[in-house]
Amino acid sequence: MARITIPQLRDRRAAGDAIVMVTAYDYPGARAAERAGVDMVLVGDSGAQVVLGHDSTVAVTTDELLVLAKAVRRGTDTAFVVCDVAFGTTETSDAQAVDTAVRFVKEAGADAVKLEGGSEARLSRIRAIVAAGIPVVGHIGLTPQTATALGGLRAQGRTVESATRLVAEALGVQAAGAFCLVVEAVPSEITAVLREALDIPIIGIGAGPADGQVLVLHDLLGITEGHTAKFVKSYGTIGADMTAAIAAYAAEVRAAAFPGPEHGYAATPEAVAAARAALPNA
Ligand code: KIV
Repeated sequence: MARITIPQLRDRRAAGDAIVMVTAYDYPGARAAERAGVDMVLVGDSGAQVVLGHDSTVAVTTDELLVLAKAVRRGTDTAFVVCDVAFGTTETSDAQAVDTAVRFVKEAGADAVKLEGGSEARLSRIRAIVAAGIPVVGHIGLTPQTATALGGLRAQGRTVESATRLVAEALGVQAAGAFCLVVEAVPSEITAVLREALDIPIIGIGAGPADGQVLVLHDLLGITEGHTAKFVKSYGTIGADMTAAIAAYAAEVRAAAFPGPEHGYAATPEAVAAARAALPNA
């Protein structure tokens, strides 16, 4: 089957068929997402936290994200691959933003890049990247790269000022040429207003019903440790399963129960004798 296209994603929205997006950061994660039949895979800068162990998304670099993105691309056949741009790699100028986006397309084979924010400067970056021929996914609401400026990792659109700003940002992102918009941590009533306002698909995360949904892979698999956001739903216990499997292996090694004869290779008696004969004191 061929890779999903932007017109097909638009058709999904028009037909009311939910678009399924999940993050992935490596080949096995991408293969699992592909086999599960998701429509879009996001190489999220959340990888900074869930696979690189940072405490926020801002530390990750383009070079690091590219390593993850290349593996994800190799692991997908039909899913549409979107790559986050790293914080600090599009902020300076439109030219810098285009150079960054081009790297994801040329080096990792990304189908699109995702940019956070809806300020006039961010809209200018989106316009520039789209003008360079690279599809863009916008991201408004809770934007983790600039969470400090938002007062922390908190829901957006709950006050008159914030809800009004979100509508302006959503319209701005669409007008700038983004073909899709991620809306994070926003009350579902406000998401409903955004859906009325926009023609492009809205992918929600903590934003109630939308044209599609996205979750962080490690959250949905149950690998993430400690606090997770209110909107996270875990569909597995893979973190506990991983620990249990490694603990079982460790116990068998310590008890000399692994490896067994079935895990080894056979040598001829002559080879064993020759090896003994080669010992210094033989
Ligand atoms: O980086 C990420 O995983 C994201 C999703 C939460 C949308 O941006």
